[in-house]
Amino acid sequence: MTNRDLETLVDTSDEWITERTGIKERRIAAPNEAASDLACEASQKALSAAGLKPKHIDLIIAATVTGDMPFPSTACTLQALLGAKNAAAFDLNAACSGFLYGLSVAECFIKAGSKKRILVVGSEVLSKFVDWEDRGTCVLFGDGAGAAVVEATEGESGIISTEMHSDGTLGGLLCIPGGGSRIPPSKDSVRDGSHFIKMKGNETFKIAVRTLERLVVDTLKKNKIKPSELALLIPHQANLRIIQAAAERLRLPMEKVLVNIDRYGNTSAASVPIALDEAVRSGRVREGDYILLEAFGGGLTWAAVLLKW
Ligand code: COA
Repeated sequence: MTNRDLETLVDTSDEWITERTGIKERRIAAPNEAASDLACEASQKALSAAGLKPKHIDLIIAATVTGDMPFPSTACTLQALLGAKNAAAFDLNAACSGFLYGLSVAECFIKAGSKKRILVVGSEVLSKFVDWEDRGTCVLFGDGAGAAVVEATEGESGIISTEMHSDGTLGGLLCIPGGGSRIPPSKDSVRDGSHFIKMKGNETFKIAVRTLERLVVDTLKKNKIKPSELALLIPHQANLRIIQAAAERLRLPMEKVLVNIDRYGNTSAASVPIALDEAVRSGRVREGDYILLEAFGGGLTWAAVLLKW
């Protein structure tokens, strides 16, 4: 769906969306597609890249806020679709930081020695939770999925450090208020549109910029890595101006920053793994490279993962 398509739905323009967000188009799932369907395709690609079969996976972590249904979990549905019969499976809700929270959790299981091969997937079908009459949000989001297999390795490559943070006092800035046990689905909740994404965009924007600038600097400092040693920054794709602010704070040239928001919009938990996949497949990541992944989203939550490829 392009910005021009959106011009026919709400009072907006390609110029406004491009200038304020960097988004030109976003992907929309088919009416019969749910989060597990997108997750399945991404997971199959990740398994094939890792040279593994579904039976080799012993844990599935599905990061999503747009799961197929309240329960069973999207991770369990995905397990069935994949035929990953040896896996335990659970969902993880950390909104846009979900994939990075998932990587952090996977790292803990592997370090503890209780799981060997973990499929971490971020999958979102946000288009089904967007109010297509609210120009403040409907232009921002898109659907997608990305996945990675995490396992123990010998040597220096892998996850160097992880950062996970949250501030639940600011949960109201970005949320879907209805459809849960607080405001159960009813004729009234549907009439009020409480099952749609609500965002105080400008406030969220300012906090995201401040928080991410601090997060990227602190993560590198903690690991005694200079910004110039970083091969690639892979940020959550919420707004090009937020991405640029973090890059500027590190004095990183934009060639060292993965940007694909123009094609996908904000795909929440799917955005970092989609960007990581594009970076790997396009040869932008080489062995021994330091890569910094970062994200910020509803909760509020924010997270970073420093990798050595
Ligand atoms: N088309 C045209 N005008 C629009 C619009 C649209 N799609 N959406 C909002 N506007 C208008 C507003 O109504 C407002 O008009 P007004 O000044 O007459 O009231 C004006 O544009 C400015 O709105 P504002 O919300 O202040 O713009 P902004 O510069 O903050 O940009 C966002 C809006 C949503 C793009 C930006 O705030 C954002 O990206 N927010 C955070 C996203 C994020 O990080 N999310 C967390 C991770 S998921």
